[in-house]
Formats: sequence, C-alpha cells, structure tokens
Amino acid sequence: MSESHSAAANFPALRLRRLRRHPGLRALVRETDLSVQDLILPLFIRSGTNIRQPISSMPGQAQITVDLAAAEAVEIASLGIPAVLLFGIPSHKDATGSAAWDDAGVVQQAIHAIRAAAPSLLVMTDLCCCEYTDHGHCGIVNDRTGIMDVDNDPTLELLARQAVSHAQAGADVIAPSGMMDGMVAAIRQGLDAAGFQHIPILSYAAKYASAFYGPFREAAESTPQFGDRRSYQMDPANAQEALREVALDLADGADMLMVKPGLAYLDIVCRVKQAHPGVPLCAYHVSGEYSMLKAAAANGWLDERRTTLEILTAFRRAGADMIITYTAKDAAKWLA
Ligand code: PBG
Repeated sequence: MSESHSAAANFPALRLRRLRRHPGLRALVRETDLSVQDLILPLFIRSGTNIRQPISSMPGQAQITVDLAAAEAVEIASLGIPAVLLFGIPSHKDATGSAAWDDAGVVQQAIHAIRAAAPSLLVMTDLCCCEYTDHGHCGIVNDRTGIMDVDNDPTLELLARQAVSHAQAGADVIAPSGMMDGMVAAIRQGLDAAGFQHIPILSYAAKYASAFYGPFREAAESTPQFGDRRSYQMDPANAQEALREVALDLADGADMLMVKPGLAYLDIVCRVKQAHPGVPLCAYHVSGEYSMLKAAAANGWLDERRTTLEILTAFRRAGADMIITYTAKDAAKWLA
C-alpha cells in the first residue's frame, strides 16, 4: 500500500485523462464549438420548371429550378441554417458568359424567390464566369499573350457587372471565386458606384487549382473545354503565396476571406487566421470532399455522422469562423 502510494507520488502518470472521464467535464473543457449557425449550404439553380435533377457524383445534392428554390429555402431556414450560397446553371452559354449579369437570370430569379419565401435566410452568391461561358473558363479567353488564357483585366468589368446584378436582385453577400487579380477592388468599385456600399464581399482569396472540385463541375456544368485553371487558381504546393493573396484581397476591400478546398488545406486556414485574426474566415468543404465522405459512408467504411461532425469541427479548430458545406442539412439535424 505505502509502496504503491509512494510510486504514485514519484510517478504521477495520470494527468490529462482526469478531465476526460465524465462527459460533462469533457463538455466544459471543450475548446472548439460547432454550431448550425456556422454553416452555409450551396444550392445549384438551373433553368426550367419543377425539375430536381440529382447530381450523381454528389449523393443527396441536386440541381433545382427557381420554382423549387422557395420551398427549399423554407426548409433550410427551418433547420436553423443561416445562409445559402447560390450557383447558377443557365440555359444559354456564350464566350463572355453574358447570362451571368442577366437581371432575369437563374440566380437573380432565385434570389427573389428565396428572399420572398424565407426572409431570414442570408443569400450569398458565388460570382464567377465559368458556369456561364461556353468554354468553361472563369473569364474572357484569348491568346493575346501567345497562349490561350483568361485575360485578367477585361474580365474584371464583367465580374463587376455580375455583382451589381446580383445586388440589385437582393443578394446579401457577394462571393467572387474566379481568382482574377484585382477582382475584389473592381467588384467593390462597381457595387459602390451602383449604391451598394452596404453589400460585403466574401473573397475566395486562397483558392487552389484542386482535383477536389471534380464533382462540382458535373453539378455546375462548368468543366473547362480546354486546358485547366492553373493559370489563375493557386498551386497546391504553395502556402506563403496564400498569405499574399489574402493580403491583396484585404487591401482591395474584402470583408471576409475564404480558403478552398478545406480538409487538405487546414494549414492554410490556420495560417490565414493567425495572420488576420480579426477578419472573418470561411472554409469551403468542397464537392470532392463531400463525395469521398458519401462514398465511404455508403460502403459502410465510415460512420457518416461522426466523420462529418469531426471534419466540420476540425475546420473550426483550424480557425474557420464559417463553413460552406453540402452536409449542412444533415449536420443541422445532428447538431439539433
Ligand atoms: C467556380 C467555382 C468552383 C467551385 C466553387 N466555385 C469550381 C472551380 O473553380 O472549378 C468548386 C466548389 C466545389 O468543388 O464544391 N469558379
């Protein structure tokens, strides 16, 4: 007895486990919280009526028409999810993506429908050309520099027009995802000139040229018809560069920042938060991450609920204030 006593005194092995024994104590010492209020659900809006077109590579997700968006919005709001992020799949595509700033376009109509049906829901819009251009690139394409590429500066004007059109339709937040240099400044100028000084910009500031976007391109019908996006999206090998991207976007007037994709880039989430602790930071849990999770769950290889909540918690732990995720509805139910 005295022997084991003195052994314990000299060698106190039990230290951290003391605080893990009781669920109540674990709750009290938990460092990171995950709430439905941190989540943003992407929606794919297509033209037509009464169509819910399932996206085969993203089980549980679908393209929906404007008329179905209202009921969808009501359900999302009733689950306590604070925000949606809209993507548009227009019926007509051309070289400049002109359907993107059509005031009667799919996204513009969906904004109206959602605001009317679920006024409490925050409506964010993804701002890019790739869903609207016939070549699938994120801007105007030409070979002015000797190779076919997206021409940066002429694209900025189109982005500003699209932003104003979204704001006019009633978008609450504009989220440019095209990775053009100077896009935040151009959009800010466009919005301000049109009287939308109050509309914040959530910039996809550090967006990587990632294979994890594969399923999204089926969902948004935005696969580039030639080449890839490596001349504008970031090289997955780079981290310091993300801090430059973020700093420039902040200088240009970004109100909130995003890192995308999420799980393979948690180091970037962490660095950006440390570099700019006062700036709201969003992580995008992208299509490929969702599809992997769904596939493993469907095979019984992973527990979907536990794995999903663990991933979402990891985003928060790394420093994300908010998370764009296709799991938002399920997560909302699990967190309720
Ligand atoms: C448009 C855009 C993409 C995604 C969001 N906005 C695709 C891309 O850049 O090719 C990807 C989202 C996802 O994979 O869930 N530029």
